[in-house]
Amino acid sequence: MRTLKSQPAKGLHGELTVPGDKSISHRGIMLGAISEGTTTLTHFLTSADCLSTLAAFQQLGVPIEREGTTVTVHGVGLHGLKASEEPLDMGNSGTTTRLIMGLLAGQPFSTTLIGDASLSKRPMRRVSDPLAAMGADITTTDGHLPVTINGEKLHAVDYQLKVASAQVKSALILAALQADEPSTLTELLPTRDHTERMLTAFGGEITTASDGLTITVQPQPQLKGQSMTVPGDMSSAAFFMTAASLVPGSQITLKDVGLNKTRTGLLDILNVMGGDVSVESEPTDGEPIGDLTIRSANLKPIDIGKAQIPAVIDELPLVALLAAKADGISRITGAEELRVKETDRISAIVTEFKKLGIDIEELPDGFVIDGRKPWHVVDPVLDAHDDHRIGMVIGIAALLVDQPLQLKGADSVRISYPEFFDDLDKLL
Ligand code: S3P
Repeated sequence: MRTLKSQPAKGLHGELTVPGDKSISHRGIMLGAISEGTTTLTHFLTSADCLSTLAAFQQLGVPIEREGTTVTVHGVGLHGLKASEEPLDMGNSGTTTRLIMGLLAGQPFSTTLIGDASLSKRPMRRVSDPLAAMGADITTTDGHLPVTINGEKLHAVDYQLKVASAQVKSALILAALQADEPSTLTELLPTRDHTERMLTAFGGEITTASDGLTITVQPQPQLKGQSMTVPGDMSSAAFFMTAASLVPGSQITLKDVGLNKTRTGLLDILNVMGGDVSVESEPTDGEPIGDLTIRSANLKPIDIGKAQIPAVIDELPLVALLAAKADGISRITGAEELRVKETDRISAIVTEFKKLGIDIEELPDGFVIDGRKPWHVVDPVLDAHDDHRIGMVIGIAALLVDQPLQLKGADSVRISYPEFFDDLDKLL
């Protein structure tokens, strides 16, 4: 049990560089592994999830070294991975699992994937079904882990995705690299495009049509190792953006944060809510990055629906927190994907927010929150539900009450942000 810091007298102040982006760190290892030559990733995220990816690829015969946050991957090419005798342990990481399923579907050996209790409850047919349409042979355990992938020769597809998910899209892209002909994938809504951008940087041929939804993947590329600096994770920066917006008297600067448009939904939402955020960015060759300065502000309520969800999917617990202090009723709908994250995040947020006396109503696909009602602590013992983002949003919510709260399962932050509480302390 961790005792959380309560309302800081003078707000949050200072400058911080958040750890590297989780999505980009995973993909850096994967694309580095299937490239020829060396890939160097600086500011790599050394959290439990990304270390699951690193260990899995070592087990698949890829030499990988790590010194602090610098990772060197000695690529083995698209056809150089080796079978692992032991099952690959995906830990808590949905991204590792889904993307590796796509990659291993076309490799000439069998692999079994296992994971922790939370990951073993998450749906995997969303990946195995479309991969089966490409000729993959994947057995799930009732749609879940453990999963066994018997590598097969894959054929091209023209596939319409059934869920707005970058993980599913990326799995299909990695499978399509191994097919016989070009594949076309069509998304329901645009989702994070790191795989597409990085694949291009590594020498692959992938194009997105002007509708932003239809992707064509050329098979059998000769990928070349790259050196890249991983931008700060917008999804980690988001906790401090929210804290500084809500705690009166705050002013902080977050340096070198990834500003890819498919990830900056929270910036747009804060703008609409009347938040005070300024962005300073310089053009880059790769992923856009910039410095964010956030000052506290009085916030207006917000109404967000399906089309806005993918760009803010991991930040929705924070949108709920912003709404819980806004001057009116906010509605978040079209977010049913939250129910299949590390925990059912809709249910977890409603349960934990109610302990703080927040006026929140659960919807099948989101919540309605009245931020005008004053909070009152009903139960000071909150629970992370074994979910890093729920643990961290509670860490921020605690700054808005004037008595110390207790958090069960605080070490869940190791999944995406092991230094979260230390970094928060630096700003207090
Ligand atoms: C991720 C995509 C998102 C996100 C997850 C990371 C990725 O999941 O929630 O934290 O790296 O592709 P979905 O694409 O399944 O929504």
